[in-house]
Amino acid sequence: MSSASPIKAARGVRDILPAERAAFAAVEHAASEAARGYGYQEVEVPIIEPVELIERGVGGDTDVARKELYRLEPHGAADGESPARLVLRPEGTASVVRAYFQGGLNQGPQPVRLFTIGPFFRHDKPQHLRYRQFVQFDVEVIGDESPAYDAEVIEMTWGWLRAMGIGNVSLELNSIGDGACRPRYLRALQEYYRPLRDRLHPDCQRRVEDNPLRLFDCKERQCQPFKEAAPRITDHLCSPCAAAFEEVKSLLDAAGLEYRLNPFLVRGLDYYTRTVFEYQHGALGGAQNALGGGGRYDGLAGALGYPDTPGVGFAGGVDRVAYMLQHELGTVTPPPAADVLVLPMIAGLDGAAAQVGRICRAVRPAAVDYSDRSLRAKMRAAGRTGARWAVIMNADEAGRRAAVLRDLVSGEERPVAWDDLAEALA
Ligand code: HAM
Repeated sequence: MSSASPIKAARGVRDILPAERAAFAAVEHAASEAARGYGYQEVEVPIIEPVELIERGVGGDTDVARKELYRLEPHGAADGESPARLVLRPEGTASVVRAYFQGGLNQGPQPVRLFTIGPFFRHDKPQHLRYRQFVQFDVEVIGDESPAYDAEVIEMTWGWLRAMGIGNVSLELNSIGDGACRPRYLRALQEYYRPLRDRLHPDCQRRVEDNPLRLFDCKERQCQPFKEAAPRITDHLCSPCAAAFEEVKSLLDAAGLEYRLNPFLVRGLDYYTRTVFEYQHGALGGAQNALGGGGRYDGLAGALGYPDTPGVGFAGGVDRVAYMLQHELGTVTPPPAADVLVLPMIAGLDGAAAQVGRICRAVRPAAVDYSDRSLRAKMRAAGRTGARWAVIMNADEAGRRAAVLRDLVSGEERPVAWDDLAEALA
């Protein structure tokens, strides 16, 4: 062994080992079932994107773009191209909207419903349930501005959580207006905050002039007392935004979904217009209590240089939901590595054991223990894997193409011919 210290994973990223992977698989399966149930189609978009896509998409002044981007070293480009400035994607919406135009999906029937599940990267302070690499279930409906799609995205994603048995979730809802009414509201917000500037955190002092809506994203304790009395966006909506918000609420009422109006929910990314929403779960606690969130982004396509096109979407945190299944609900039991373990009792039976493994594998996942441990040790290990059967082989029986089949649950054993194994295990 070398004297150098063993290499560990980078800070803030982690391995998803089999027990947790089973919970992830359950969450991802429920996600794709929920999305397909509403007519969504799966897409995949690159993990590496041009930095401009993110800066112009989520907004250059958001934490995501300013502090949390993983920027890749520029590589010398071929053929005199200037080297691309690339980042690891911190979110999926900007990429999916880009793909919608770049792939010509804007030319077909509208709206287009898309979903994707994959890893995202934010260089945030690592904490419980806040990772630097995490998985999102992302859904986007692009090409129609009807608030009925906002309500449908909420209903579908609520159904995703319900299908996994996750209750006790609070749906927070707000509207943050659009280009017609928000500027006037932001001026009112600035007028309210300017006299308080000296009492705010330095980041927020800057935000008062640069990006006042982001004042509501602030988690610093010193800034909290001023939020409550701040002007509320919902009192400043123009009539089209107010009507859209009313319609979303009445559709959610009709769907029987309960929600809590939260005038301070602004969602940390600059592309949102009108509806924003978030699912929060008390059991997760602190700043990591959002299981997912989303909203409408009618200005995003234009900000990326494409024709103005409305859209609405959501992203759920797969790591957090998987954590709920594994640790709060305990509803996921990881499947055993194999149902059947083939245990040769002595050395020299590898070929025969491989053959028996093949026969079993036709009907069940089967693994062969080729180690030179004693049968007792093999049996003990077998008991711990959660396998259901052991096929025990000695040389004599192997010569006659026979073995002993042991039920690891009941402890019953019986002799069985190789040719009858498949039927016995089926
Ligand atoms: P977001 O709120 O930034 O929205 O992220 C959505 C969810 O991803 C969060 O609620 C959380 O569950 C999970 N998440 C975010 N960061 C982390 C992290 N560091 N560790 C673990 N989980 C995390 C978006 O990303 C938007 N693109 C959602 C959207 C889609 N809006 C419209 N369409």
